[in-house]
Amino acid sequence: MRGGQMNTWQADTVAAQRRPVGGLVGVDVAPAIHPTAAFAAPTAAAFADLAVRRRAIDFYTRYGNPNHAETASVIAALEGGETALLYASGMAAITATIVAFGTGARVVAQRELYGGTAGFLDSIAPRLGIGVDFVHHDDLAGFDQALRTPATLVLLETPTNPLLRVTDVAAIATLARRAGAVLAVDATLGSPVNQQLLGLGADIVLHSATKYLGGHGDLTAGVAVTSNDLADRLWSDAYLFGATLSAHDAWMLQRGLRTLPVRMRQHNRSASAVAAHLTEHPAVVRVHHPSLVDHPQAELIARQMTGPGGVLSFEVRGGLEAAERVVSRLRLPSRAASFGGPTAAVVLPARMWSGMGSATVEDLVPAGLIRLAVGLEDPADLNMDLDQALS
Ligand SMILES: Cc1ncc(COP(=O)(O)O)c(C=O)c1O
Repeated sequence: MRGGQMNTWQADTVAAQRRPVGGLVGVDVAPAIHPTAAFAAPTAAAFADLAVRRRAIDFYTRYGNPNHAETASVIAALEGGETALLYASGMAAITATIVAFGTGARVVAQRELYGGTAGFLDSIAPRLGIGVDFVHHDDLAGFDQALRTPATLVLLETPTNPLLRVTDVAAIATLARRAGAVLAVDATLGSPVNQQLLGLGADIVLHSATKYLGGHGDLTAGVAVTSNDLADRLWSDAYLFGATLSAHDAWMLQRGLRTLPVRMRQHNRSASAVAAHLTEHPAVVRVHHPSLVDHPQAELIARQMTGPGGVLSFEVRGGLEAAERVVSRLRLPSRAASFGGPTAAVVLPARMWSGMGSATVEDLVPAGLIRLAVGLEDPADLNMDLDQALS
C-alpha cells in the first residue's frame, strides 16, 4: 500500500469485480474466454442499438470483445491511463496511430526507432501523404525547431531498440502541447513497471504486447493506452482497418499480465548483472543498458525510469563477422527475433534491421552490435555462456 493506493496488480482487482454468470453463485477467479465472432442481440431494437454503438464489446469481435475490454482495463490501470485499445500486433497499434493522427499532415518522429516503425515511416507513410520529419532522440533544440511548424503527431520510442537510448518525454511533451500535436510513445522496452509515460505528458503509450506484457513468447499483440476521447478516434479507424486481436490472444495476454511485475523485477536484476559482467570483458568494446552509470542519459534515466528492463546490447571487437561468431557459439539464448519471454534471445540487429525497409540502418545500428534480451534464467548461467562464446 502506498499513500492509500494498493500495489496489488490490476489483474487481481479486475477479478474481484467479476459478477456471477448464468445464475451461478460462485464467481470465476481466472478470466473466462469469449471466442465468439458475433454476439446475438435479444431483439431487433437491441441489434440496431449495438450496431452503431462505439467500441461495443458485445456486437462483433472485430469491433470489440469482453476479453479485449477486461485485458485493456488491466493495461490501462498499469499505465495510469483511462482506457486502452488492443491490436493484432505492436506494428498494428503503431501504424493505426500514425495513420489516425498523421494523415494529410506532418509527423515529427525520433530517428532512433524500431526498424519496423522506421520502415513504415520511410517507405509507406509518403505513399499515404504523411509528411515525416526526423529528429535525433536527444536533440531537444531540434524538436523545438521542428515543432514550430504545424504538426499533428509526435512519435517517440524509449528506451530504443536496439541501442537503449532514452528520450526525455516530459520535455518533448511540453513542445508537442505548444504545437497542438498528439504525443505517442512506444514504451515496449520499458514496460509500465519501469516507466509511467502518461504521467509525463504522453497522450498515447504504445506497446508491442508480444514482448513483456504477454511475457511468454506465445502471442502477438499490440496496445495503445490513452484517454477515452483519443481512443474513440483511434477505434473509428481500427475497427475498419480490422487488425483486431483475437479473443484467445486477449485472454492469453491477460494471463501474462498477472505476472508482469515479478517478471520485470527479475528481468531488471538479471540484465543489470549481465550488462555489468560484459563491461569487464576484454572482447567487448561497448555495452548499452540503462543500468550502466556511463549511459549517455544516466541523469534522465534516474528521472524517468524506475528499472532498466531486460534488453541490453553490446559491441564486440571485429565487427559483424566477429559478432556472428559469438552469436553462433552461444548455447543458452535462442537466436530468435522477439524478446520479453522466459528464455533469453539474441539477434544481430544489423542483419535484422536491413530487412525492414528503413533507409538509415547503417547510420543507426553498428555492424558488430549484438542484442541480448535476458529471460528468467539465472544470470550467472548467461554470464558463463557469454564468456565461452566471447573467448
Ligand atoms: C520497440 C518495438 N516496437 C514495436 C515492435 C513491433 O511489435 P510486433 O512485432 O508485435 O508487431 C517491436 C518488435 O520487436 C519493438 O521492439
